Amino acid sequence: MRVLITGGAGFVGSHLALSFKREKPDSAVIALDNLKRQGSELALRRLAEGGVEFRHGDVRNPEDLAETGGLDLLVECSAEPSVQAGLYGGERYLINTNLVGAINCLDHARRHDAAVIFLSTSRIYPIAPLRALPLVPTETRFVIPAADAGPGWSACGITENFPLDGSRSLYGATKLCAELIISEYVALYGLRAVINRCGVLTGPWQMGKVDQGFVVLWAARHLFGGALSYNGFGGAGLQVRDVLHVEDLCRLIHKQVAGITSYSGKIYNVGGGADCSVSLVELTEACVRRTGQNLVIASQPQTNPVDVPYYVTDNTAVTAATGWRPGLSIAAILDDIFGWLDEHREEVEAILK
Ligand SMILES: NC(=O)c1ccc[n+]([C@@H]2O[C@H](COP(=O)([O-])OP(=O)(O)OC[C@H]3O[C@@H](n4cnc5c(N)ncnc54)[C@H](O)[C@@H]3O)[C@@H](O)[C@H]2O)c1
Repeated sequence: MRVLITGGAGFVGSHLALSFKREKPDSAVIALDNLKRQGSELALRRLAEGGVEFRHGDVRNPEDLAETGGLDLLVECSAEPSVQAGLYGGERYLINTNLVGAINCLDHARRHDAAVIFLSTSRIYPIAPLRALPLVPTETRFVIPAADAGPGWSACGITENFPLDGSRSLYGATKLCAELIISEYVALYGLRAVINRCGVLTGPWQMGKVDQGFVVLWAARHLFGGALSYNGFGGAGLQVRDVLHVEDLCRLIHKQVAGITSYSGKIYNVGGGADCSVSLVELTEACVRRTGQNLVIASQPQTNPVDVPYYVTDNTAVTAATGWRPGLSIAAILDDIFGWLDEHREEVEAILK
């Protein structure tokens, strides 16, 4: 088996590449990445030690993909993954990587009759209806009252049937466009492909920043120092996300690859789920308990135009289809992240501080 992971030096891509090599030591696993994300260069040593071949290349160039040769599976993990991308410039890079690059990956897979796993995002769901959820503030977080439900949402989270009308950020739009093209390739060309709409993913080796990777950012700032701020929705830190450990995602992808014929053409919401959700205030409390550092957290009441106060994944469909469910709790995820930050402080402090 030959596996190509695009964005393979990134947070998800590097975990996935190494997990394929661990699961199937006889397979050839190639990680292609242009190293645009600061910190991705740190993955090169881990990839080499794990027997993954690194190729410096760009998904915007079909030639770079062609040079990686034949393949049986392509997992598209390359992206400009910030929801704020395009707000202050950078929209051409976003569109050319997330959409044109994704199409280049599909064409490469098609040419070699390879299966595709596409990492989409919960951000394909539009902003206004997510903001219109009947959220109730408690002392530490926003909640959806247990008895409330509507189209595609309930206290269990957001399903694949959540309405798609409305603006969703350029990041979300590039991902939704790529999803539509994938569905056409499946229908017209018989491409075998699965789409996972992921909520927040986290774990060791995520290069967390304000606009992407908030769990690692929070943990690192508590450990290494640096500023943090509750941004938007009144600035009280009540916004909620579910969180999935990247190794739990890898487990799901291995199942999907093993059963690709039955899962092809399917779209799944994938995340930590309601039991593994956290607000910023709750995350602060957990970080203070672990580090003893009581940081003064600033408050910025003004809401960024692309931010949403609440997103929790309803995993019902993916669990029913595959039997997969998330395994690691918030506490276990934080233990893993803090352990990694302690062990690799010298390598990562300058990037995360
Ligand atoms: N991390 C999350 O919380 C999350 C949530 C939902 C979806 N996703 C999706 O999962 C995928 C992986 O995200 P991640 O968290 O690992 O992000 P990441 O930034 O860590 O990894 C992306 C990698 O792609 C590379 N890259 C960027 N532009 C490229 C290009 N033009 N050609 C080749 N490589 C390029 C970057 O250098 C980086 O190494 C993305 O598609 C992202 O949209 C991530």
